[in-house]
Amino acid sequence: MDGNGRWAQKRSLPRLLGHREGYKTLRSVLLYASERGIRYLTVYAFSAENWRRPKDEVDGLMKLIERAARDELRVMHRNGVRVRVAGRMDELPSGLRQALEDGMATTAGNTGITFTLAINYGGRAEIVDAMKKIVGEGIPADQIDEETVAAHLYNPDHPEPDLMIRTAGEMRWSNFLLWQSAYSELYVTEKTWPEFDDKELDRAIEAFAGRTRKFGALA
Ligand code: IPE
Ligand code: MG
Repeated sequence: MDGNGRWAQKRSLPRLLGHREGYKTLRSVLLYASERGIRYLTVYAFSAENWRRPKDEVDGLMKLIERAARDELRVMHRNGVRVRVAGRMDELPSGLRQALEDGMATTAGNTGITFTLAINYGGRAEIVDAMKKIVGEGIPADQIDEETVAAHLYNPDHPEPDLMIRTAGEMRWSNFLLWQSAYSELYVTEKTWPEFDDKELDRAIEAFAGRTRKFGALA
């Protein structure tokens, strides 16, 4: 979710304080999305490309996410949230991976909103990983179709996103859910992620509700 850095910079604060503020936003947006009856919320917390940032920022983010995963577990569980992840988990620091696995195990049976943390996630990497699984299973080439690929993504049981929200005015996809977003509606807001709030989510949903979706067909 973009704009944590800019939010901090504008206030002459260190970037990590922007990320901490972004965490607060996520906590309240998750609760609100759940109240509004949204079934799936997937957030792009750390991309496979974000390792290119300075070590201090990467370490700070990893610690922040690990602490958040542990601190929020009880309240998420109480609210019926089901936690999932998307990304290459084996490349994460082991403490963080453990926290995420604990979160998934604890909430696996919940029936409320599915909250998916995309972390060390890349859309191309996900497709590559799907290819590897398909080849590994020995599926013959002439039996591979779009359903085969979709069934080998990180969370094959998740529906494709109806709505994708980009913050801080970014007009690019940044390697997020490339396969799944083929027919997603896009909503871009100038607000940075720490400024994003319930009202802005309402606006995004309202904009979405006004769209006509044709999936390539005629209206
Ligand atoms: C958060 O926003 C994205 C993360 C990787 C956590 P940014 O850190 O990209 O913020 P800007 O783009 O510098 O404003
Ligand atoms: Mg950015």
